[in-house]
Amino acid sequence: MNKNGPIGIFDSGIGGATVLKEIIKILPNETYIYYSDSKNNPYGDKTDQEIVALCENIVEFFIKENCKAIVIACNTASAKAVQYLRKRYYHIPFIAIEPAYKMVYDYAYNESTLVLATKGTIESEKFNLLYHTYDNHKTILLPCVGLADVIEEGNKEKIKQYVKHHLELYTGKVKNVVLGCTHYPLIIEEIKEVLGDVQFFNGAPYLANHLKEVLQEKDLINNEKQDTTIQFIDSSNSEQKKNRFFELIKEK
Ligand code: DGL
Repeated sequence: MNKNGPIGIFDSGIGGATVLKEIIKILPNETYIYYSDSKNNPYGDKTDQEIVALCENIVEFFIKENCKAIVIACNTASAKAVQYLRKRYYHIPFIAIEPAYKMVYDYAYNESTLVLATKGTIESEKFNLLYHTYDNHKTILLPCVGLADVIEEGNKEKIKQYVKHHLELYTGKVKNVVLGCTHYPLIIEEIKEVLGDVQFFNGAPYLANHLKEVLQEKDLINNEKQDTTIQFIDSSNSEQKKNRFFELIKEK
């Protein structure tokens, strides 16, 4: 593995920008190839086999590009494919996002908690193991079918309507909200408008630290570069996605 090689990062769309932003904060001197698989989104309601096949294609592409590590910036893909990918491509490190439910256990165990994620994540074996290990017995699991799509589309009105319609029921009833899909940190304001002053849990900063640790351990940190390079690829070649992605990366 080459220190100067890029880091591959992927999601079903541009939601993984929320993960890349956290990574860049602590690993600014690297080259990133971000793959947005918008041709095949949403991932949230696909079968395990479908997700594995999609991930394999992306991983093969990253390997051809000489990536030194691969970040799965999609909770659904992590939940359904990371075990398989780690076995099949054992020579390359995979760093995979997961809903920050353990953080609730560590920091806010006594508070009522709402976990928002795709149907695929919530039904997955990997998430269920995490959930049963750290269950605070005051948790509601809410599969948000279609929400990642609405966010991907970017229509503020539709986002507001979705959030109001699906979350209003929990207003005043929950204190913690786990953002279990990488698209959801993009709608924190809309969620707050409905749920009020809740505490958010996002796995992305934790993943970024973990990536840094893995690269350090394997002596793969790029010591020569002085800036961030990001190459964006979208499987449906959408210019609009590309522009929106870079806007998100620049936003504070
Ligand atoms: N952003 C993805 C996740 O974290 C998936 C969204 C989707 O395509 O359904 O789960």
